[in-house]
Amino acid sequence: MTSSRVASFQPLALEGEILQQRAWRMPDLVVYQHGPDEWWVAPLDEDLPVVRLNRMGASLLGAMDGRLSIQALLNQFGKWICGPNQETGRWFLERWSLPRYSLCYFGTDPPSGHNVNAKWDLLLQKVREHWHENVTVESETHLTAFHHQGIQHHHGHFEIVETTVSHLLREPCEALNGFSYGQLLAKTFRQLGWWSPKPRRIVEVGAGLGYLSQEMAKELSPLERRGVEYFFLDLTRPFLHSQLTLAAHAGWDARAVNANAERLPFADATVDLVIDNENLADMTPTRLSKEELDARVGKTPEHQQCLDLIHTLRLNLDAPYPDDAIVNSGAMHFLMELWRVLRPGGRALLVEFGIDAGWPDPVRLPGHTEYEVQFSHLRHVAQWLGFREQYCALPQLLSIRRDTQVLCTGAAYAIRRLQEAEGKTFAVRAYTESELQRTLGETLARFTGLHYHHVLDPAWFGLWDFKALILEKPGGMPRPAYKESQGFRWYSQR
Ligand SMILES: C[S@@+](CC[C@H](N)C(=O)[O-])C[C@H]1O[C@@H](n2cnc3c(N)ncnc32)[C@H](O)[C@@H]1O
Repeated sequence: MTSSRVASFQPLALEGEILQQRAWRMPDLVVYQHGPDEWWVAPLDEDLPVVRLNRMGASLLGAMDGRLSIQALLNQFGKWICGPNQETGRWFLERWSLPRYSLCYFGTDPPSGHNVNAKWDLLLQKVREHWHENVTVESETHLTAFHHQGIQHHHGHFEIVETTVSHLLREPCEALNGFSYGQLLAKTFRQLGWWSPKPRRIVEVGAGLGYLSQEMAKELSPLERRGVEYFFLDLTRPFLHSQLTLAAHAGWDARAVNANAERLPFADATVDLVIDNENLADMTPTRLSKEELDARVGKTPEHQQCLDLIHTLRLNLDAPYPDDAIVNSGAMHFLMELWRVLRPGGRALLVEFGIDAGWPDPVRLPGHTEYEVQFSHLRHVAQWLGFREQYCALPQLLSIRRDTQVLCTGAAYAIRRLQEAEGKTFAVRAYTESELQRTLGETLARFTGLHYHHVLDPAWFGLWDFKALILEKPGGMPRPAYKESQGFRWYSQR
């Protein structure tokens, strides 16, 4: 355990300058009324128990509005019992501003200034950095190790550790006009003509729990699925079981392989369609120094291989180079593998968050770091390989209803924890107010602090940062002059 990690477990010493600082509770903190005289809040760290407050504790939380100093709060609440577990006000004041709790902020100025949200975002960013006190020693292969060993509880994984867009939208929902993410993708594939003729072998890379196959099956008729082989390929073995179960249940002829997408275990030209949702940022990054880029000489064989790859692919990197530059080398290998395994006429849809210019930044998640995808690099590689490519933002691909208001994901996490403490389950999804009402029923009235965002508001999930790269390997059979639908063939007049 690093010294700063130990420090993060230490309660804050309430002395010196801190006493003159003021306290602000987190904006829109979700508070749950458990009983007539008991309220619960969820600390940010999943390993900490829910914080339970009596009436005095609830008053302490209410008093953290930036007006009172820590000294004044101590005088007013310090020695009184503020929780049903006998915690005093001082005990809470010593902990709530720590990153693990993140229930409030102590400082001399409000964490707001002219743009309230931006400041709080920075604060949360700091909290996220805290999950990664070991980030400087994180090796370029840590992602593979994380997927091999780091994912223990696969069911909670997408609810807690890394919630994805497709996970939030995995069931039919108002934000997608009553469809699920998987149903919309299947519709899109049909519109693009990818089901006429239908693919014989689909490979879904990094399918998580496997909801996409289940939802796609709802949109395609049994006839459209007949004879189609649905392959799951995943680095995390425990996920494959869930993927196969959902897909088999949905009626797919499903198989699975535990492998790394950077080296696909398929023979050349044997796959018709590859689906890869939110997985590119998990692929191996290479962190090159300015000196290595300038001299084109790598300090390790892997770095040299990456520099050679950049040279071979004629990738035009933006000079002057930064001191430390991340290149999505694993994703580039994956593209090369796609070119190899796809049949002429084969297609791929790749969805991930990323950027169009500059250098990828690391993105800290609990237990591992992912890397933004530099899409102009990937698009260049795709073109260099010979793919026909199309590129757009994910909301454009899905035609998401921009006027939908959905529950803040932070609030959804909090509700899940608070419901769990009651022995109830709550799934993290993209809820509109009426969907949340239907899900929680009368319990909804016990929550305060719930807030909603427009689905395309960057403050919700940053959907505009998610991009879709559509690839087609030329050379397929000419398109037939008919379309198949519900088992019928519709011929055009041409
Ligand atoms: C962020 S999750 C996305 C899951 C799912 N597609 C979704 O959108 O919710 C990444 C998935 O890719 C898998 N994965 C990560 N790196 C991989 C790699 N190099 N090769 C194959 N699978 C990988 C993970 O095990 C996981 O299933």
